[in-house]
Amino acid sequence: MSEFAQFADRLKRPIDVKLHDFQRNERLRHLIFASQLTPQLLEKLRRMADMIRQLSRTKEGNLQLKQLLAHRRAMLYFSQPSTRTFLSFMAACQILGITCNEVRDPKTSSEAKRESKMDSIRMFSSYFDVIIMRTPEPNFAECCAYLMNELESREMRSVPIINAGSGSDEHPTQALLDMYTLMRTFSTDYSRESKQSRFVELQSQTPELKPGIANKTYLFCGDMGRGRTVRSLAYTIGQYPNVRLLFVSPSHETLRLDEQTKKRLRALRADIHEFDSLDAQLEGQPILAQADAVYMTRIQREHNSTQDDSDFSKIDFSQYQLNPERVARMKIYAPILHPFPRDSVMGEIPTSVDMDSRAMYFRQARNGMWARAALLVHLFDAADELFMLHNGR
Ligand code: NCD
Repeated sequence: MSEFAQFADRLKRPIDVKLHDFQRNERLRHLIFASQLTPQLLEKLRRMADMIRQLSRTKEGNLQLKQLLAHRRAMLYFSQPSTRTFLSFMAACQILGITCNEVRDPKTSSEAKRESKMDSIRMFSSYFDVIIMRTPEPNFAECCAYLMNELESREMRSVPIINAGSGSDEHPTQALLDMYTLMRTFSTDYSRESKQSRFVELQSQTPELKPGIANKTYLFCGDMGRGRTVRSLAYTIGQYPNVRLLFVSPSHETLRLDEQTKKRLRALRADIHEFDSLDAQLEGQPILAQADAVYMTRIQREHNSTQDDSDFSKIDFSQYQLNPERVARMKIYAPILHPFPRDSVMGEIPTSVDMDSRAMYFRQARNGMWARAALLVHLFDAADELFMLHNGR
């Protein structure tokens, strides 16, 4: 897109070089790529999300949280459909007292009068203190972050950009909530006063289960080609030592994992394998029985070409469906995640799985609210105030 031409040189750089542009010392200035979510930062955000969650259990805690960022305003610019990301960001803002406003249909903004998207973003930055954006165009959030950096370097008004899904590229805040869910699942910390944590209970039945994200096998299933949540989560998990990533999808070029993603994951030293059925085996063992966590996704049919439509009619999609028989083959502790929405027609996770104790997807969506609130506290440099509130309880 011509509007992005001025950033072409910056866009071309390797990802590792780019990351520096979105940091300010130890802190994030913008969140554009999942690779910014390092294990250390995730640990910090996890603790903050837990504090927000605990504080919000009482009316007093809620009222204190509402003061924390009451002087801030957020713009939610979502020109692509969204339910969970939009609502959980809005709820996160409300928890922290951040006032928010939204543009969801650019036809109702001056884009309808041929205003450029970049002008719209710069205008939002005049009125708001953070821009949370989801757009169909890849690279758009990244370019907005470069624009904000340029303004900052000239000591002009500049605000943080949060990428809430950019085309088929990346979805880093989904990776954040997925990681928060996995970290909680594989942790001994979460005993509610009298109740033992689920992890400790499961560990007594399966002693091979160890805490943490490292040294585990993660299985991803569905649309590996177009699902931005899979890419973002895989880049994040890939930073931990000794992880095995199993990708299950039809072996169609639209649907299987792309070469570039595989290259980046190999560079992280992740052990990656691809399969075309959930019933496949690896080293003589069913892959489903080897997975420590299973991440399901839907087939993103809205992006199909006419050729895809015709090719897909010949694919047996039941191979990518997690029915109760397949769930029965999984480890007793392995959580089932899904970014949602799930496809109610294809049924990659039928509702018959919902009551299984491993079905984590509704909790995962709620975790998005706490994790996104923690991200906002971090971006606005209010972590110390949050610690004080939490410790003073
Ligand atoms: C996903 C997305 O938009 O990338 N949804 C979400 O944010 N939870 C996944 C999808 O649309 O399938």
